[in-house]
Amino acid sequence: MKLLITGGAGFIGSNFTFYMMEKRPEYELICLDKLTYAGNLATLTPVMGQSNFKFIWGDIADRTAVFELFEGERPDVVVNFAAESHVDRSIEDPGIFLQTNVMGTQVLLDACREYGVGRYHQVSTDEVYGDLPLDRPDLFFTEQTPLHTSSPYSASKASADLLCNAYQRTYNLPITISRCSNNYGPYQFPEKLIPLMIANALADKPLPVYGQGLNVRDWLYVEDHCAAIDLILEKGRVGQVYNIGGHNEMRNIDIVKLICKTLDKPESLITYVTDRKGHDMRYAIDPSFIHKELGWLPETTFEDGIQRTIRWYLDNQNWWEEIVSGEYQSYYERMYGNR
Ligand code: NAD
Ligand code: TYD
Repeated sequence: MKLLITGGAGFIGSNFTFYMMEKRPEYELICLDKLTYAGNLATLTPVMGQSNFKFIWGDIADRTAVFELFEGERPDVVVNFAAESHVDRSIEDPGIFLQTNVMGTQVLLDACREYGVGRYHQVSTDEVYGDLPLDRPDLFFTEQTPLHTSSPYSASKASADLLCNAYQRTYNLPITISRCSNNYGPYQFPEKLIPLMIANALADKPLPVYGQGLNVRDWLYVEDHCAAIDLILEKGRVGQVYNIGGHNEMRNIDIVKLICKTLDKPESLITYVTDRKGHDMRYAIDPSFIHKELGWLPETTFEDGIQRTIRWYLDNQNWWEEIVSGEYQSYYERMYGNR
């Protein structure tokens, strides 16, 4: 079995690569990644020299390069993690989100058609459903919830989902889609809430909480997401969407306070800043379908997962300190300078 993993040098893609190398050592894994600011080849060091792993530097939206890769490698299965993934950056500059997330997906789908790939899996997000109100805790996103996007990021991801469905219906392409809630864990780029707050707290820098910090996200440990995707590849039904989440809703402010407490830093570091434009209030996944159909359940509690994650950032300061010294500095200035 030859698996093409796109975006494997990013947060979830690298965790998925490690998960599959361990769980399915008989598979051959190929990682295609453009190495944008969010991709880090150093992350893949542990698997780089292994005989069943190959890294290819390239852009999923580069049709010639992608078709050459498929011609040479003939993957059996494709799992598409490659994306521009940060909402704030999509608000600043939507163009690259459409280019990678929509056009890149189309190129991959075309290549899968041309080379008769056995399964194309699209890694999507619960953000395609828009948001839920804070005063209706009884509401959750199901697979039937209409798409209702808020940010250029979520609009680009929803567009890609629609394309996948269209290729399945029109060309009979064997696709599956998963829509997961917010992930956390090792190797997440420090522009996202949890690693950003850990990195800033360790440097005694202000902790920028948007608005009043009351927005709710549904957090899942990254390895549980990886296990769900593996299960969908193995047993999932073609054409099906699977929501993935662990019923772990938290307000942003409570997460930031928990990080302060764990790192023994004062809450006075918390700084309320101008809210994100179009900020989604609440995400909450109903994961009962994937549980019923595939038997998936998360294994890591938030209490355990967040402690492991904070420990990982403490033990791997080199990994993220190198990242935050580059392009990230000017991004941080632009995003938070006058906020
Ligand atoms: P990430 O930003 O950490 O990593 C994205 C990776 O894709 C990077 O390695 C980057 O170099 C690569 N990439 C970007 N553009 C590319 C291109 N044109 N061609 C090839 N490679 C390219 O993102 P992540 O958090 O690991 O998210 C992975 C996927 O999971 C995304 O599709 C995202 O929408 C989805 N997702 C993320 C979350 C989350 O909480 N992080 C939750 C649900 C779904
Ligand atoms: P983020 O990690 O960007 O994920 P997403 O927007 O895709 O859910 O943000 C998670 C939540 O944290 C979101 O409500 C925005 C908020 N947030 C802050 O309050 N401050 C920050 O500096 C960042 C990056 C996010």
